[in-house]
Amino acid sequence: MNVLVIGSGGREHALCWAIAKSPQLSTLFCAPGNGGIADVAECVSLDAGNHGAIVAFCRDRDIGLVVIGPEAPLVDGLADTLESEAIPVFGPSAAAAQLEGSKAFTKDLCAAHAIPTAAYARFGDAKSAKTYLRERGAPIVIKADGLAAGKGVTVAEDLETALAAVEDCFAGAFGEAGAEVVIEDMLVGEEASFFALVDGETAVPLATAQDHKRVGDGDTGPNTGGMGAYSPASVMTPELCKRTMREIIEPTVAALRDAGTPYKGVLFAGLMITEKGPELIEYNVRFGDPECQVLMLRLKSDALAALLATAEGSLRDHRVEWHSDPALTVVMAAMGYPGSYGKGSEIGNLAAAGKGDGVQIFHAGTARADGRLVAAGGRVLNVTARGATVSQARERAYHAVSQIEWADGFCRSDIGWRAIERE
Ligand code: AMP
Ligand code: GLY
Repeated sequence: MNVLVIGSGGREHALCWAIAKSPQLSTLFCAPGNGGIADVAECVSLDAGNHGAIVAFCRDRDIGLVVIGPEAPLVDGLADTLESEAIPVFGPSAAAAQLEGSKAFTKDLCAAHAIPTAAYARFGDAKSAKTYLRERGAPIVIKADGLAAGKGVTVAEDLETALAAVEDCFAGAFGEAGAEVVIEDMLVGEEASFFALVDGETAVPLATAQDHKRVGDGDTGPNTGGMGAYSPASVMTPELCKRTMREIIEPTVAALRDAGTPYKGVLFAGLMITEKGPELIEYNVRFGDPECQVLMLRLKSDALAALLATAEGSLRDHRVEWHSDPALTVVMAAMGYPGSYGKGSEIGNLAAAGKGDGVQIFHAGTARADGRLVAAGGRVLNVTARGATVSQARERAYHAVSQIEWADGFCRSDIGWRAIERE
C-alpha cells in the first residue's frame, strides 16, 4: 500500500519512521516533509490547504491511506474532502475536530455529559468577560476559543493579567480565534498527556506521556510547543488510566457518535491530575509533538496496521503492543525560540550521535542545503532514546545531544525530572 503523511514536524518524522517499518507499505510520501523525513519517505511539495491537489496526488499515486499530522488541515476539513472521494484517511472530520478547534465546543460537551473539567463561562465581548473576572477573581485561566498555535491561553495569577488577556483577545491578538473567549477556573495538579485511537465507535487506549511546555529548566520561562517528553507518564497509574477512559474518553466518543459526527483518529487528552482525579484541560485531535516521538519509539506492533484499523473502523479486533521500556525525547531548538530565532545554521555529526544504544533522532525544523543539514525552524531536532528506566533513556538521549555539533542550538537539561524523582 502507498501512504501519504501530511506535515513537516518531528511528529511526522516519527510517524513516517514507524510507518516505514510496516511490511504492508509499498511507497511512503510526505507533504511537505523535512530534512530528516527525506531519509524514510519521498517528500512532495503539496499544500495541505489545496484539497484538489491532494486528491489528485492520491489518485495519481494510488494512495491507500492519508495520515494527517497537524490540527489545522483537520479543522479545515481535509479529512471530509478525502472521505467524500473515498480515499481512506486517518484523522477526524471538521465537525469532530471542533474538539480542538473550539474550546467552547469542548467545554459545552463536557458540561452536557458530566466529563470532569474546570468550571467555565463563555464570552463574546470584553465588557461581560471583565465583569465575570472581577466576580470570580484570580488565579484564573483565559483562552481564545479557536486555534491559536498554542498561544491563546493565559494562566493569570492576578486580576490585572487576566483583564489584560481579555483585552488582548478582543483586540484581535489571535484574529478570529479570539472572537470568543472561554474563562475557566485554574486546576491544580500534575499534567499528563493521554492518547487513544478511536474509530468512530471503539476507543483503544494507546499510551501516556508527559510534555515539558516551558522553555527553561525547572519549568520556567515562556510556554513553547514542548521542549521534551517521556512515556509512559509516571503519574498515570493503571487506575488513573482506567478512570480517564471511563470518565473522559468514552463519554466523549459516545457523545460525538450520538451527534452524528463520529470521531475517527487519535484523541489526545491534556489532563490535570487533581486531588479529585483526572480532569480534562483540553482535547487535541492529533498526536502531540513531541509526545508522538516517544510513543512511536515505544510502539512494538505495526503502526500502519493500527492507523488503518482506525480509518477502517476495525479497532475492536485490533491489538496494539508496546515495548515496556520507557522512552524520552529532548528537543533541540534554535537559540531565541520561542521568540525570534535565526535559520540556516549548520548541524553536524548527527549520524554518529544517532548510533548510540536505543537512540533515534527525529527531525523537526531541518532542511538540506547543498548537501549540508541546516536549521530551518524553532524546534529543530528531537533526540530520542529508549532505556530500561527513564534515567537510562535520559542518559542515552543527553549523550547523543552532547555529540551533536550545532552552535546555534539549545535544549533543556532536565527532561524527565518528575519521573526520575519517582524512580
Ligand atoms: P492548552 O492550550 O489548553 O493546553 O493550555 C496550555 C497550558 O495552559 C496547559 O498545558 C496548562 O499548563 C495550562 N492550562 C490550561 N488550562 C488550565 C487550567 N484550567 N488550569 C491550569 N492550567 C491550565
Ligand atoms: N506537545 C503538546 C502538543 O502537541 O499540543
